Amino acid sequence: MKKLEVFGVAKLKGQIRISGSKNASLPILAATLLSDKIISLRNLPKVKDIETMILLLKSLGSIVDDNKKKITIKNNKQSKTFAAYSLVKTMRAGILVLGPLLAKFGKAKVSLPGGCAIGTRPVDIHLKALSKLGVKYKIIQGYVHADAPKGLIGANIKFPKISVGATENLIIAACLAKGKTVLSNCAIEPEIEDLINFLIKMGCNIKWTSKRTIKIEGVAKVNELNYQVMPDRIEAGTYLIAAALTEGNLKVTGIDPKIISTEINILKKVGAKIIQKKNEILIKGSKKIKSINIKTSPYPGFPTDLQAQMMVLLCKANKKSYIKEEIFENRFMHVAELNRMGAKISINGNKATIEGNIKFEAAELMATDLRASVSLILAALASKGKSIINRIYHLDRGYEDIEKKLKKVGAKIRRLN
Ligand code: UD1
Repeated sequence: MKKLEVFGVAKLKGQIRISGSKNASLPILAATLLSDKIISLRNLPKVKDIETMILLLKSLGSIVDDNKKKITIKNNKQSKTFAAYSLVKTMRAGILVLGPLLAKFGKAKVSLPGGCAIGTRPVDIHLKALSKLGVKYKIIQGYVHADAPKGLIGANIKFPKISVGATENLIIAACLAKGKTVLSNCAIEPEIEDLINFLIKMGCNIKWTSKRTIKIEGVAKVNELNYQVMPDRIEAGTYLIAAALTEGNLKVTGIDPKIISTEINILKKVGAKIIQKKNEILIKGSKKIKSINIKTSPYPGFPTDLQAQMMVLLCKANKKSYIKEEIFENRFMHVAELNRMGAKISINGNKATIEGNIKFEAAELMATDLRASVSLILAALASKGKSIINRIYHLDRGYEDIEKKLKKVGAKIRRLN
């Protein structure tokens, strides 16, 4: 099994270019199913989740041509509506093919995404909302068997809770539904904005009518399209936190600072010096890190996907900090490993208390999920000596070329097979 070896203490210096966004690419890839024309996508990150989504599309009959610069998807012969457990189990975004398959064929059989280390992660909101568009469904042996006997029909849907995945699934489905759909209490993450841009360019009729309300007029057909996916704001946030943690001096390029203004403001509050430019961010970590209290929440709040990384940084703060995890209650698997490295973090329900002034100690560690894995790399960079991080397949799901990028800015990191 692959491992990472990291030697600390590191001070990251130099320039890192941000890759395409995984969380924007996945719903956009699912949305290509709406089309039977040729779709070209650029800037998809080379990570495992994207590979898995492409395998899923191929299993549904899409013809996918992946060259270095862009991927081309032809759906003129795509006709299958069955998404197997083997492809959906490792990647929750697999459920996003349900909406487009129902919109295109009026039926689908899609595996439930299955359990996940960060919590139960149900899809009831997706299913109830789809049923308002005329979908009848049953869950049999772990599969959603869904039918829309009269095709999808536009409706007014208010999500009971803000859900990124359900908002995406319903936007995609409603694009080909008959008539008007109004979705309210929608997630407004930049990745949703990117999905909407993609769909509009493909010929769909979508408008924001208020901050969390979207109006969609169904269309009969969509066009061919060449689209560039947005940069990965979580990857950018991860490297900015790494710089703040290691008293580094980094230029993070290829991302508009405006989409991560919440994160930038928090990093400034804890003491990092940040200069924002048009498409880049300069960050200088400070010796003194100030404590802060944070809660994760839907965009524009602080993202749950940066909670683990931020926790590592706060271990170095001058005083005690608190983090409240409001999206996934169990998303604290990194805590036990960080405590093995000398951190003093205690958990009570969804609240973590993080003692400051910690000197991390290098250790052999076990990665548990995507963002937890990267938090261990950050802690290892801040620890004196050699750390080994096992089970890094989690990391490969979402960070393109992470060792290469970190090595280029001075980290001593290598992959062991
Ligand atoms: C969530 C995060 C997203 C992050 C991703 C991967 C939010 C709002 N969403 O997106 O930023 O990139 O995880 O870590 O921050 N829920 C239900 N029923 C459903 C769907 C969701 O109860 O049918 C609950 C979830 O358990 C969770 C909350 O709603 O507590 C938000 O989930 P949702 O946004 O749908 O999850 P993801 O799309 O995976």
